[in-house]
Amino acid sequence: MAIVDRKWSALPVPYAIEVPDRVAKERYFDPDFYELEVERLWPRVWQMACRLEEIPQPRDFVEYEFLDQSVVVLRTDDMGVHAFQNACRHRGVRVVEGRGTCEGGFVCPFHGWCYGLDGVNSYVPRAKMFAEHNLQPGDIDLVPVRCEIWGGCAWINLDDSAPPLRQCLEPAATILDAWKVESLRTEWWYAARLPVNWKLAQEAFFEQYHVVQTHPQLVIPARYAPPKGTIDPRAYIDADIHYLRTMSDGMAGMVHANDVRIAESLRDIELPADPKLAISTWNRALNDAVVQWHRATGSDMPDLNELDAEGRNEPMGYAFPHYFVLPMYSSASSYRFRPLGPEETLMEIWSLTRFPEDSARERPSPPEPWETDDPRWPPIPAQDFSNLPRQQKGLHAQGFEYMRLSERMEGHISNFHRTIDGFLSGLPYEKLLPALETVNVNPLERPVVDISFA
Ligand code: FES
Ligand SMILES: [Fe+2]
Repeated sequence: MAIVDRKWSALPVPYAIEVPDRVAKERYFDPDFYELEVERLWPRVWQMACRLEEIPQPRDFVEYEFLDQSVVVLRTDDMGVHAFQNACRHRGVRVVEGRGTCEGGFVCPFHGWCYGLDGVNSYVPRAKMFAEHNLQPGDIDLVPVRCEIWGGCAWINLDDSAPPLRQCLEPAATILDAWKVESLRTEWWYAARLPVNWKLAQEAFFEQYHVVQTHPQLVIPARYAPPKGTIDPRAYIDADIHYLRTMSDGMAGMVHANDVRIAESLRDIELPADPKLAISTWNRALNDAVVQWHRATGSDMPDLNELDAEGRNEPMGYAFPHYFVLPMYSSASSYRFRPLGPEETLMEIWSLTRFPEDSARERPSPPEPWETDDPRWPPIPAQDFSNLPRQQKGLHAQGFEYMRLSERMEGHISNFHRTIDGFLSGLPYEKLLPALETVNVNPLERPVVDISFA
């Protein structure tokens, strides 16, 4: 295993990952480490600021907050997006709060300075009362923020020298494009306030090692065909449908109810007795039926069997540092994580699905965050959330020094942390891009990989 190459590290990083399968506990609560992330990571990364259906019409806007920053994301008249820092150039008041639709532009509620849709200052009441140097053209415009579109979302980056969005999302962007992620729309949107560090929160979803212990209802023996001999095709189909239904109910829609119904309708299809052939026949038939059903309703739907054949039907896509898409057949769950402090995180969960292209949908509104033990959580996130606060507390134990990762099953956690160390070292983007390509992948079952920053 390679150790992070320090030769490019311009800036020291406390508690840096020295041995790739060990993560120092202080990275999850030390206030100085958190401050480094605030200074050197978050202002340099592309962040998912909103889903595009939150700003469906020209002049719709939303406020995206992270740490102590607020950015306004606006749908332009030509259906692009535009963003600026949400601070009036007069005395700093946030020009907007929440969301809305603006007419000709924005008016600051304090003294009435006005800004056009492009953020350009258009009016200063009693302008003659100001010295010329405080009314310089350009200087009194809202500060623009880079904003680009990908995957049905608007993304922002405070760093003008960062590479374009797409480059920072590869290879996840290409894989999820093939699955037509941009055609998904919000069915529902929940939020959780987690009393844990933002990295710890994500790591609960980076590996499958925990499934047997934490989600025993997902372990259904009859789904696993014997390596040799025959299987009972009926038992196999029953077990697979049971799994799909458990995922659908358990994650509240991770497998969409439409797709579960489609699977039910295929329950009686003929399957060959050879186990491998039976499984592939069932999978192909289910894929085909899902594709046909969604296309018949007028939805934009990729050919799932084609994606399987190309090895591009991944069950999870990750975009560093805080965004997940978990495709299952036609639909997906999606997650976004934002730190609220060293030991507090806002996690949002979307259920995304495909709707007929001409269907009108309401603007989804941001959910009130629920606590981890809220009885409204579906069973699967409730199980994950039951571990997280205990883990954050356990990390503080005096005798606990570092996490001991499986280099084969929990490698993504290490790859993620070492990518963070690249940012905290202040490395230039050309050094960081290869690490991003390593980490913007399906995190499940990823081994520790070489991230040398050479
Ligand atoms: S702070 Fe905005 S107009 Fe004064
Ligand atoms: Fe889980």
